[in-house]
Amino acid sequence: MSKNKISVQNLSKEFRSNGRVVAALKGLSFEVREGEFFGIVGPSGCGKTTLLNIIGGIERPTGGSIQIDGSEIKGPGFDRGMLFQEGALLPWRTSKKNVEFGLEIKGADAGERAKIADKYLKLVGLEGFEESYPHELSMGMVQRVSLARVLSFDPDILLMDEPFASVDALTREGLQNELLKIWTDMKKTIVFVTHSIDEAVYLSDRIAVLSARPGRAKEVVEITLPRPRDRIRTSQEFAHLREKIEDILKEEIGNNEH
Ligand SMILES: Nc1ncnc2c1ncn2[C@@H]1O[C@H](COP(=O)(O)OP(=O)(O)O)[C@@H](O)[C@H]1O
Ligand SMILES: [Mg+2]
Repeated sequence: MSKNKISVQNLSKEFRSNGRVVAALKGLSFEVREGEFFGIVGPSGCGKTTLLNIIGGIERPTGGSIQIDGSEIKGPGFDRGMLFQEGALLPWRTSKKNVEFGLEIKGADAGERAKIADKYLKLVGLEGFEESYPHELSMGMVQRVSLARVLSFDPDILLMDEPFASVDALTREGLQNELLKIWTDMKKTIVFVTHSIDEAVYLSDRIAVLSARPGRAKEVVEITLPRPRDRIRTSQEFAHLREKIEDILKEEIGNNEH
């Protein structure tokens, strides 16, 4: 069995605003294995984005421990790439210049940046759109550019926060399949937050189902479906796993302590 890549132990996070304390996460523990596709689902507001931000090093936990390769997370780093729902591209930059952005921060020279940007735009199927601006692209294409940008600095870990939530169903399935291909070829560890149980089951090796706020891992479900999964959605096993996660989530709806 492969080793643990990310270890979350008894993690908690509280936000303080206007004298009020909001507990976003409380006593959350789980492990992500190296090279694993790890899905996260949970009720809205249960702390999924907060969790990814903590793993990304852009938010500090209030308590507990979170380690990558056995070392406590100190801040952001090029070992982790984050992808958000809206893509977060710079509107005044072309696709290519958006991909180059991370490489500029990393200090790569212009020739190298251009070469790497071309390579990753091609990898995500955007050859010919190097000079397009974000407003000229569909949401699916914006997410492809965002993915190329993250991949361009070759992180070990991809942290994805509902990255395909804003694209139509057909585009979404295409993006899911391409992500699986990239994951297989490039051997990344992926932590993938989604609202869609279908998407989580289709993609993941295991899925953590979080409780209503404050989030803790209610259950980690092993997705035993064989890969490749191209035609798996119509199978009985797929339906069974989806129902299992739906049932765990149903117990949580209405359980939200507002
Ligand atoms: N910066 C912040 N300040 C105060 N409260 C926050 C902040 N970020 C998130 N929260 C609160 O923490 C809880 C979890 O939020 P979030 O992680 O965005 O949940 P999810 O992504 O699962 O929908 C919510 O109640 C939210 O309002
Ligand atoms: Mg969120």
